[in-house]
Amino acid sequence: MDDKRHVIMLVDDNINTLDMGKEILKFRYTVFPIPSGLKFFEILNKITPDLILLDVEMPGMDGYEVLKRIKSTPGICDIPVIFVTAKSDPGSELTGLNLGAIDYISKPFSPPLLLKRIETHLVMSSQSRELKRYNEHLQEMVQEQTEVIMELQNALVNSLAEMVEFRDTITFGHIARTQNYIRLLVERLVREGIYSRDTAGWDLTIVVPASQLHDLGKIAIKDHILNKPGKLTPEEFEEMKLHTTYGVQVIEKIINNSMKHAALNKTVTQFLTHARIFARTHHEKWDGTGYPGGLRGEEIPLEGRLMAVADVYDALISERPYKSAMSTEAAREIIIGGRGRHFDPVLVDLFEKEADEFARIAGKYQ
Ligand SMILES: [Fe+2]
Repeated sequence: MDDKRHVIMLVDDNINTLDMGKEILKFRYTVFPIPSGLKFFEILNKITPDLILLDVEMPGMDGYEVLKRIKSTPGICDIPVIFVTAKSDPGSELTGLNLGAIDYISKPFSPPLLLKRIETHLVMSSQSRELKRYNEHLQEMVQEQTEVIMELQNALVNSLAEMVEFRDTITFGHIARTQNYIRLLVERLVREGIYSRDTAGWDLTIVVPASQLHDLGKIAIKDHILNKPGKLTPEEFEEMKLHTTYGVQVIEKIINNSMKHAALNKTVTQFLTHARIFARTHHEKWDGTGYPGGLRGEEIPLEGRLMAVADVYDALISERPYKSAMSTEAAREIIIGGRGRHFDPVLVDLFEKEADEFARIAGKYQ
């Protein structure tokens, strides 16, 4: 126990009980004898006790009522309360304990028993506070470690995405820009409550970075196709289309390997699941003419529909060996023109509202 004298409040309408309680406790504790529930709450505004001894039967606000109020008031709800009463039937004892009292003491007091009980409960209460502090500290430590793991994971994903980008020299800056377009659209979706069924379980700090891996499968595409300074032949285009499937295969391999440690990190599993959807569905089209699945409308997961807008917009404003960069105004018109054909009409409407911000991002990550 610490040196500071603990403060005990004794609430009882019987003046003899108050006097007797004070006599027993005053040598060890600072005691406040209080004659009613109402008075108790008045004093509680100025002084916070370490323990409360509470009579059950009092006129006006009875002990049960006082206890209910204590338990529903943040800041004081953890103060231990011991009921004191002349009642000795098990029913009222149980009612008190069910309401959150930690113990029940019968009147008249046995001085040594009262002192021992109070001492025990003060020790328990202090240990429980200590444990609570320890748990909070532990949670902070776990949080810090999780942040370190997340940072490491983001750094690795970034490097992986950049590796793809370095091979695919014609799309420099593409991953940084598409990630920002995606963030912009998703934040707006969430703000406006659109597609909330899809986004309800989304953690944007996971979904947005996961979009970086949408073109991961390009790792498996041959250099002469990936960097061809001109239009692809139909056969070459067929192979290029496989980057979606290759991406899924690579991510699934990572998922299967990380399954062994699945209990370790839910975040990683979520991240990879979103990444796999981005990779598989970002070339699907709203009217069903995309690849690899030929999915239509809302059959295409939201991740794929979002990336379709971001990916095409970025391709349009980027310079390629066989074409010059289009202006952001012209790209905007093409995206709007693809409403309901290539792109989800709802997302095109959002894009239109955010077109200036798209243009700003396009200029920022060149
Ligand atoms: Fe792609």
